[in-house]
Amino acid sequence: MNETMRGRLRSIPVFANVPDAGFSEKDLPDNPVPVIGDWILAAHAAGQPEPHAMSLCTVGPSGVPSSRVLLVKDIDDDHLYFATPADSRKGREIAANPHVSAHFYWPAAGRQVRVVGKAAGLERAASQADFAERGRGSRLAAHLHRPGPLGDRADVLAEFARLDSLHPEEVPCPPSWTLYAITPTEVEFWAASADRVHHRVQYRRDTATGGSAWHRRLLWP
Ligand SMILES: Cc1cc2nc3c(=O)[nH]c(=O)nc-3n(C[C@H](O)[C@H](O)[C@H](O)COP(=O)(O)O)c2cc1C
Repeated sequence: MNETMRGRLRSIPVFANVPDAGFSEKDLPDNPVPVIGDWILAAHAAGQPEPHAMSLCTVGPSGVPSSRVLLVKDIDDDHLYFATPADSRKGREIAANPHVSAHFYWPAAGRQVRVVGKAAGLERAASQADFAERGRGSRLAAHLHRPGPLGDRADVLAEFARLDSLHPEEVPCPPSWTLYAITPTEVEFWAASADRVHHRVQYRRDTATGGSAWHRRLLWP
């Protein structure tokens, strides 16, 4: 057996159990955004853990990108919603540059989706409503967000215990907790095919010039 890292990585099977994704470009509707929700639910049905987790890429002041995973809280005809502190790295980067890219990959379904668009924080009432739906542990943990480094893990555990005692019933919504909406201008659906002739469908719309109609085209794999 080749014990080098390269050998080990190259021996890992790829798309070994890709299901017949039932992907038909002709079945896709004019608006791609709700389809993202359909694909999340299909991935859930295929056994994908956290199928509503997406990686979100933001851009820092000098043009350097950074990514992290977030949960999608809702999807409607024109937006994907996520929640995070406005004073987090991603929140600060979005405040300075709203351009973001989100990405889903569902190995159990053999599918991925790319989203490109702009993110904007919503009004306080919407953020509070999102916060109220979180579990108690998540509401307390939202108060643990602090700028700068953590000296010792014991410090954050002690702070969690202090917050738990301080708020035995209602946990207040931190001022920075923010529900964000991404308005996509590009959505690309990708589905694996066992014969490696994968499917790609790209939707684009030019909101900058006031256009809201989506234009669709197939892409080569
Ligand atoms: C599956 C998963 C779901 C997550 N969901 C959220 C979320 O909804 N909101 C959030 O602020 N962080 C979430 N996180 C943590 C983020 O990935 C990230 O570590 C944190 O928000 C700090 O990001 P930043 O420093 O880049 O701003 C999640 C992490 C994982 C692995």
